[in-house]
Amino acid sequence: MSFDLVFFGGTGDLTWRKLMPALFQAFRHGKLPPGGRILAVARDERSDDEYRAFIKERFVEVDSAKRPSDDEFARFAELLHYRRMDLSQPAHYAGLKAWIDERGADTAVLYLAISPYLFPVVCEQLGAVGLNGPRVRVVLEKPLGHDLASAQQINRVVRSVFHESQAFRIDHYLGKPAVQNLMALRFGNALFEPLWRRESIANIQITLAESLGVGTRGDYYDTTGALRDMIQNHALQLLTMIAMEPPSTNDADAIRDEKLKVLKSLKPFTPETVARDVVRGQYKAGSVDGQAVKGYLDEVKVPAGSHCETFVALRTEVQNWRWAGVPFYLRTGKRMAARDAQIVVNFREVPHPIFPGSARANKLVIKLQPEDGLELHLLAAKGGAGGGSGGEQLAPVSLDLDFDKAFAHERVGAYERLLLDAIAGRLNLFVRSDEQEQAWRWVMPILDAWAADPNGPRTYAAGSWGPPAASAMVARDGCTWDEEQ
Ligand code: BG6
Repeated sequence: MSFDLVFFGGTGDLTWRKLMPALFQAFRHGKLPPGGRILAVARDERSDDEYRAFIKERFVEVDSAKRPSDDEFARFAELLHYRRMDLSQPAHYAGLKAWIDERGADTAVLYLAISPYLFPVVCEQLGAVGLNGPRVRVVLEKPLGHDLASAQQINRVVRSVFHESQAFRIDHYLGKPAVQNLMALRFGNALFEPLWRRESIANIQITLAESLGVGTRGDYYDTTGALRDMIQNHALQLLTMIAMEPPSTNDADAIRDEKLKVLKSLKPFTPETVARDVVRGQYKAGSVDGQAVKGYLDEVKVPAGSHCETFVALRTEVQNWRWAGVPFYLRTGKRMAARDAQIVVNFREVPHPIFPGSARANKLVIKLQPEDGLELHLLAAKGGAGGGSGGEQLAPVSLDLDFDKAFAHERVGAYERLLLDAIAGRLNLFVRSDEQEQAWRWVMPILDAWAADPNGPRTYAAGSWGPPAASAMVARDGCTWDEEQ
């Protein structure tokens, strides 16, 4: 299947930092379909060769095992082309269409790696020149809007130009192997499903912690914040996959229908519940991995006195028969103690303990980062003598699976997987507009309550697990975060 893959924002950070290295890996692994062309478009004038040199230079920043040799890069570079385009000029879209039509590849994937404010105008222009026919797909990078109204506005325009089946909304977390494994764990195995409900599960914790700060992205980040950057999309997507009912097929719409139902079942926030069940924080100076680091307000391009949150912890519930009353805790933050993304499913304690002093509930830890694996925590008898009344002494043990090791040769990175899926037209791992809007609808009361709150976020020391209020919030339910157990 021949394809043209066009990157709007062809010289931007996302393109050279994530997309080109991902494509190179796909090329190296022989996964890119033959007959492909990759076209970068951006504002300045360059030749194809100048663009190839620009990308080659930037590959130096890619980790060494993934870096191409000169020879490999030369072969990859044959696929790369460059075209100057001013996105406000209709004639430039007509030129792009002519370039694509001249060869008539089976599919044209138009990847908008540009600011979301430009999505409506670019989509309209693409429609105006007829670059929206059935073989065209449009890939929309996050952030997809700033709030519900702007997301709806973008979706209205996208829908007026493209059919929903042509729109590929990226949430790169869905491309992570661990996230696909979540589907496999739940729906490829019969073991967990009978336990996957309120009768057996006490609470679920989703943590997306980063040890990095905002780096040089202070200006972007300050208008975004952790709620929009991580919770509205990545954390909620994970929640839907944990909580959804089994879909009837593995088709995009069957899956997305079930995910949407979860989003619609989330307990809506009110100003009172925001005050009680949501903690926002901002890092101050501290130390990460033994290195002193500055506070958020001292990062470059961050405005003085900013109230932008770099941490959010919240408690919600999925209001349906399966999950009624089970707390779902979501937490994300920059400059936290470790880079650690995981989902912890805490099971209930045994109803009647017969081994005194060893009450400890089982838990399943689904690890996304830094490694991709699964841990099942159980209690086992140590086999010695002299313990409690019956003599047994129990000890916690865990069954550990390391998927990175087990499937080392098969693994592909998130962007590599999603780019290949977009080229192949597979929508399963992309977000539908109604899911995305429902996620915005749910976070809006939090944004509104914060906007009306003059106090701003609580502070936490860089290198910690966030403000103490986040622990107090779960303690009210008699729970602790995983690292406190
Ligand atoms: C992005 C956010 O969507 O995800 C970043 O904009 C964040 O702020 C990143 O650092 C985290 O992704 P990953 O794959 O490194 O966990």
